[in-house]
This record gives sequence, C-alpha cells and structure tokens, in this order.
Amino acid sequence: MEMYVQLLERLRAETAEAHDELDSAHDGGAFAGLAAYGRFLEAQARIFPVAEAALAASGEYRTLPDWDRRFRADALIADLATLGIAPPQSMPFELQDRPGAATGLAYVLEGSRLGGKLIARKLAQAGLHDAPTSFIAHGADQRFWQSFTAWLANRHPDEAFGDAAVASARTAFALFLEATRREPECH
Ligand code: HEM
Repeated sequence: MEMYVQLLERLRAETAEAHDELDSAHDGGAFAGLAAYGRFLEAQARIFPVAEAALAASGEYRTLPDWDRRFRADALIADLATLGIAPPQSMPFELQDRPGAATGLAYVLEGSRLGGKLIARKLAQAGLHDAPTSFIAHGADQRFWQSFTAWLANRHPDEAFGDAAVASARTAFALFLEATRREPECH
C-alpha cells in the first residue's frame, strides 16, 4: 500500500506544475463557446490516438483491468466530427521501452478523466448544451480512475520504475501543452 501512495503521490507532485499550466492554457475548462471547446478537443486529438495505440502495444499496460475498454480516441474523433472538425494530425509520439513508462502515460490519460468531469459541469453552466461530450464523459459510470489507482497499488515499483513513470508522465504533459499551443488547423 505504501508503495502505491508513494508512486501516485510522486506522479501527482512531479506533474502538478505541468497540469496547472495545461489547465490555465484551457482557461480552467471555462470555455467561452463551442469553438473554444472544439480547440480543446482538437488538441487532445493530436495525442490520444497515438498514445492509446502505444499503450495497447504495451504488456505493462495490458495488466490494467479493462484496459481495452478505456480507450477514448473514437469518442474524441466522433465529438470533433459533430463540431465539423476533421481529425487533426497526430504529434510525433514515442513511448519509451522501459518498465514504468506505460504506467506514467496511463496516469496522465486516466487522470484527465477527472478534468473531464469538471469540464462537463462548466459546459452545462455556460449553457453549451449542444456540446458533444462522449469523450469527456467516457466511462463516467465505470469508476476507471478508482480501478486505475487500485492497479497502481500493485505495481510494486522500485525507484527506477518510479523514475521512468514520472519521466513518461512529464513528457506526456509537455506534449499536451505543445498540442494546445499549436494553431488550430485550417479546414
Ligand atoms: C481544461 C483543462 C483541464 C482542467 C480544468 C482540469 C482539471 C482537473 C481537475 C479538477 C482534476 C481533479 C483534481 C483532484 O480531484 O484532485 C484533475 C486531475 C487530473 N488531470 Fe486535469 N484538467 C484539465 C486538463 C487535463 C489534461 C488535458 C490532462 C492530461 C492529458 C489532465 C490530467 C490530469 C491528471 C493526470 C489528473 C490527476 C491528478 C491526480 O489526482 O493525481 N488534465 N484535472
């Protein structure tokens, strides 16, 4: 149990600043309109398909319960289509072949579900009832975050594993930030 707290706490602490930056780059999820929400989804869509494909190919990731039910790229592309936005080009992406790397990436993708919940509330508050939400609401009734953290409890990581997980999570956050700062593509 202690290992799990340590790894989750480490991941949280060592990516907190990057998360704050990402959060403010998206105005804390308080989107002014559908166009701004579309830009948020478009930035996510530069990474989710390639990141999920990398996880699907990882034996480490495939030990996570329901691993193949967690993928959300299709929902994301469908939401973009509803907004009339074509799938954007993917960012160059590579998952390091080191124990812990898939775990760190999974932390970032699974954790982003928590932000999704808040975004769903803010969309409703802003009266954006037409906003497509299959990506941000994906798995809302599945307790995926809870089962992810329980899985993390059984990683029994040594320090090198933790280092690789943190490095991978930080790389992923940096990539999301870069995707966010890109100009939207012309359609
Ligand atoms: C509009 C943008 C975003 C907002 C407003 C937001 C907000 C939040 C909120 C409210 C939490 C829950 C904090 C808690 O319960 O302690 C959270 C957690 C998290 N978010 Fe975000 N988020 C955003 C974007 C993202 C993105 C794009 C990613 C990654 C792709 C991400 C990754 C995470 C992670 C990894 C956690 C888990 C932290 C932890 O408990 O260890 N977030 N976010």
